[in-house]
Amino acid sequence: MTVAVLPGDGIGPEVAAQAIRVLDALGIGHSEHAFGGNAILAQGTPLPDETLAACRAADAVLLGAVGLPELEGQPVRPEQGLLDLRRELDVFANLRPARHGAIDLLIVRELVGGLYFGAKGVRDDGTWFDTCEYTRPEVERIARVAFDIARAKGGRLTSVDKVNVLNTSRLWRDVVSELGADAYPDVPLDHALVDSFAMTIVTAPETIDVVVTENTFGDILSDVAAAVTGGLGLAASASLGDGGPGIFEPVHGSAPQIAGRGIANPAAMFRSTALLLAHGLARPDEAAALERAVDVALAQAPTPDLGGTATTSELGDAVLRALGASPTV
Ligand code: NAD
Ligand code: IPM
Ligand code: MN
Repeated sequence: MTVAVLPGDGIGPEVAAQAIRVLDALGIGHSEHAFGGNAILAQGTPLPDETLAACRAADAVLLGAVGLPELEGQPVRPEQGLLDLRRELDVFANLRPARHGAIDLLIVRELVGGLYFGAKGVRDDGTWFDTCEYTRPEVERIARVAFDIARAKGGRLTSVDKVNVLNTSRLWRDVVSELGADAYPDVPLDHALVDSFAMTIVTAPETIDVVVTENTFGDILSDVAAAVTGGLGLAASASLGDGGPGIFEPVHGSAPQIAGRGIANPAAMFRSTALLLAHGLARPDEAAALERAVDVALAQAPTPDLGGTATTSELGDAVLRALGASPTV
């Protein structure tokens, strides 16, 4: 088994170094590859061919974060590499769980369609444009993933759209409703408009179960969900396709304001590693043990974003200690 690790930029390599300690402790092989802003500066492209080939050949991809302030808004950007990698691996289903106390919600975000992937450019008259497009099969396959998850946990599904304004949302709501009626009549389904749903995440997150939504809405709503469950330092994600390697990465970015100070919270990266163990390598017991170890470690050694004083590696030490004490590892 081998994991392609893409540390990336900013705090990406800092939190990736901690996740690698866990891979080593579990005896899982891994290799590191250039990706993002550092790859642009060294090789002129955020996703070098060698990196893409290594990702395709791996059982799973573990990604830190990309983004360098000096490349923001430039013609060639680190974030394009991330979008290209997601599209190349066709990881259309992005699972973003958010849990804290009574809150236990999961955002299922469509990841390779919509506004971030549509036609874009500048017209002769000087108008800049981005286009949001979805096809019926694109909506159906992500809706299936969300319905399957809701069914497996005996839960509810909320589909989030902007059907009062957007054409693509009319397609979205039709497809989700039809699929629900035809194939998942046992799964309670409701629909919400994205603006008021953002408010619901803030005011009543404990009432939310499984959510399915399009790419841009899912991007924004998952940061909001992270904020109400302890912040971006804790929020993990899994990006899955049909069979090939998945990408496992924190919801947060390269956090340039705190990069290089050794204070980034590696919990989101550890939790992404747990998702990798569960979904990418079919090692559910070790995944559960890592989840528990992260909870124990967070109580012992919280980082500054949580009001504590632990450094990135001190929280890593606590995770490794708790993991070593686990009977299942
Ligand atoms: P960000 O997620 O990097 O940071 C937002 C805030 O959260 C900052 O205050 C930061 O200090 C804090 N934060 C984030 N992760 C943290 C952690 N692990 N521990 C403690 N605090 C943490 O978002 P941003 O500042 O808007 O974006 C910075 C760069 O990251 C941009 O270039 C953006 O494009 C990129 N980005 C990349 C990814 C990715 O690679 N998956 C995701 C989001 C943003
Ligand atoms: C995320 C990030 C990315 C996205 C960017 C960096 C391309 O914000 O993973 O949430 O928009 O998907
Ligand atoms: Mn985002």
